[in-house]
Amino acid sequence: MSPLRGAGPVGGSDDGSDDGNDDGSDDEAGGYDVAWLDLRADADDRARSDALLADLGNALRPGVTAADPPGDHVLDLGCGTGAMARWCLDRFGPRATDTVVTLVDPDGRLLEVARSRLAAAPGRVLTTVAAGCDDLARLLADPPEGRRVDAVVASALLDVVPAASVVHLARAVAGAGVPLLAALTVTGTVRLDPQHPWDEVAAAAVARTARRDGAAGPGAAGLLVDAATAQGCRAVARSTPWHLDPARDGALVAAWWEGYAAAARHGARTPEERTALDVWAADHRSALERGALVVQVGHDDVLVLPGHAARSRLSAFLSTSVPDVDRNADVGGTADA
Ligand SMILES: C[S@@+](CC[C@H](N)C(=O)[O-])C[C@H]1O[C@@H](n2cnc3c(N)ncnc32)[C@H](O)[C@@H]1O
Repeated sequence: MSPLRGAGPVGGSDDGSDDGNDDGSDDEAGGYDVAWLDLRADADDRARSDALLADLGNALRPGVTAADPPGDHVLDLGCGTGAMARWCLDRFGPRATDTVVTLVDPDGRLLEVARSRLAAAPGRVLTTVAAGCDDLARLLADPPEGRRVDAVVASALLDVVPAASVVHLARAVAGAGVPLLAALTVTGTVRLDPQHPWDEVAAAAVARTARRDGAAGPGAAGLLVDAATAQGCRAVARSTPWHLDPARDGALVAAWWEGYAAAARHGARTPEERTALDVWAADHRSALERGALVVQVGHDDVLVLPGHAARSRLSAFLSTSVPDVDRNADVGGTADA
């Protein structure tokens, strides 16, 4: 595994030749460390698009039929510690109490953490499922406890799974007619202040590292938009960057930086480039140690509305006021982050 995992860091080897994750953010099995997911949770909560979540709410079922239990069934895919489900429930208002959540992640250890944490949230955990993206079509066709899934949500997931899995997600939700809100997909755009002449070279090296890992990497949100649109869905994207301030987010900046610098080194094309990136890293690290490194990390949130979900449930304002694809690519200029 390369030293880059999703929106966050894991340490890499200094020589760029192994796949070590030595900053403690992964456990032995290669899973995500709870401490890392907790460290980023506040920045994630600030960044995700409330506007797209509201649009998702407008696309959910308006009421219940005799055959349906009350409330929505939300499936959190790649749930980790359940931060995305909790974020949704916190914003669902009164409807949250009737909402049930299915937690899905390949990592059974994280599923247990998520289940226990959501016990205190409004809403109820219906079940946990040890599964991944490629199981989504099956889960939607044969849903937990036979209860139709009303929405799939995910956060910080698309860029860490293979591109084929992103396409599978689009096909699965399109086939089942279920909306999908995929938040916080890394875009690869990073702004460091103070700037450095090697920042762009470093960003390209980080992107190479992500691709070497077999992950969809930067571009995964665009891939979802394209794949969903090809399936006849509406897809709306919003720029949702982290805005990290050293005074408020010092620990997160430091942890993120170590992983980012390691990923850049790992992605160097030549020994000379690696040496130059070492200088680049040392310069930024000295700003970091002075508490002076301000960071923006680009993410996109994408809402996918399958054709018949859009027709049956989409509110009039959404169909008239939001373009099919509205990408605010400037991570510094997001309107709703
Ligand atoms: C960066 S963490 C994000 C966790 C959580 N969604 C959050 O926002 O805090 C990525 C999560 O995706 C899970 N994951 C890894 N590969 C996956 C796959 N192929 N399908 C679904 N989830 C996967 C990991 O176990 C981890 O919980």
